[in-house]
Amino acid sequence: MTTTDAVTTITVGGPAPYDVIVGPGVSTAIEPFLGAAATCAVVHADALAKQAGAVVDAVGRSGVRVVSIPVPAGEGGKALDVLAAIWARLATAGVTRTDVVVSVGGGATTDVVGFAAATWLRGVRVVHVPTTLLAMVDAAVGGKTAINTTAGKNLVGAFHPPAGVLVDLDLLASLPQSEWVNGMAEVVKAGFIADPVILDLVTADPDGARRCDGKHSRELIERSIRMKAGVVSADLKEAGPREMLNYGHTLGHAIERVRDYAVPHGHAVAVGMVFAAELARAAGRLDPDVVARHRELIGTVGLPTSHDGDDWPALRAAMQVDKKSRGARLRFVVLEDIGRPVILDDPDEGLLEEAFAAVST
Ligand SMILES: NC(=O)c1ccc[n+]([C@@H]2O[C@H](COP(=O)([O-])OP(=O)(O)OC[C@H]3O[C@@H](n4cnc5c(N)ncnc54)[C@H](O)[C@@H]3O)[C@@H](O)[C@H]2O)c1
Repeated sequence: MTTTDAVTTITVGGPAPYDVIVGPGVSTAIEPFLGAAATCAVVHADALAKQAGAVVDAVGRSGVRVVSIPVPAGEGGKALDVLAAIWARLATAGVTRTDVVVSVGGGATTDVVGFAAATWLRGVRVVHVPTTLLAMVDAAVGGKTAINTTAGKNLVGAFHPPAGVLVDLDLLASLPQSEWVNGMAEVVKAGFIADPVILDLVTADPDGARRCDGKHSRELIERSIRMKAGVVSADLKEAGPREMLNYGHTLGHAIERVRDYAVPHGHAVAVGMVFAAELARAAGRLDPDVVARHRELIGTVGLPTSHDGDDWPALRAAMQVDKKSRGARLRFVVLEDIGRPVILDDPDEGLLEEAFAAVST
């Protein structure tokens, strides 16, 4: 990682290394990421036309022909018809193999635009300009792209690492606080699985941790990106250590599915992390103090620590079909301590029920 003046560069390694640039205003310093492109398609969440306009202008100033393509903001954009519409616009714009696609938006937008870039002409260069905390620290980094289909969420996708990610901190100014808090689930996760300094920063300024302009916001973002960059550099395709990023997500995904995606992702993952901590404690692997730290920190950032409902049978069934489970066996990422994630394979039903009882109200 290098930091010069206001800009931090975090390199993601692996088969096709790329840089994540963090700093205020960096989305308009896009020229070096355009490669040999003659044409650039900026595909953006329709609600973010103003933010995307600044990127379009910056591309235009670099002498590259630019087209602007709005897509529905949020999950509604991760759909087959939206993907088909993007392909049609790329065709009309004459986007070729050597051209570039840029996404501007939250994780839903970076996912669908990343998948469009992965599939157009069997893969063209993509640069992400994430605009939510979740997209900055998670969705835009790591090369996973996806859409939702009638078969389920994120079941159709591709690994397509970007050519670069521009994390423009100025873009957070318009982000609703609820979206910031949602993204903090992934930041806290990074703290628990790998970087305890993140947890200390949250504790040091609890009010600031709930706001994008908190005094440690930039460091929280950079540390989370660095953690993810380190993991995906070693394991792009989730064959090994990348599984650790799933901390809190096994129950989290089940809560989202059972509640028909009415529960925000970050809220579901927050409860999932407390559940995973309780599961590790029940299995004799984790000190109760660390479980208490989960509740304290997750509550501090404004996320829930318990699940209101007695829908265990439905959640248990949903976990069984999670796309990350293996065959009939359930696998959980649990902690043996802060920064020491391990896999708990096929835990006893009694342990699962004990852990769920500890998080349900
Ligand atoms: N590919 C991956 O590795 C990965 C990882 C995690 C999550 N995801 C995906 O990310 C998606 C969730 O992403 P998200 O939480 O960023 O939500 P999102 O993309 O749905 O955006 C949430 C809302 O915030 C608005 N918004 C975005 N940026 C804004 C800004 N700067 N100012 C004002 N409003 C803004 C959007 O228009 C939208 O209405 C899910 O589809 C999830 O599957 C992907």
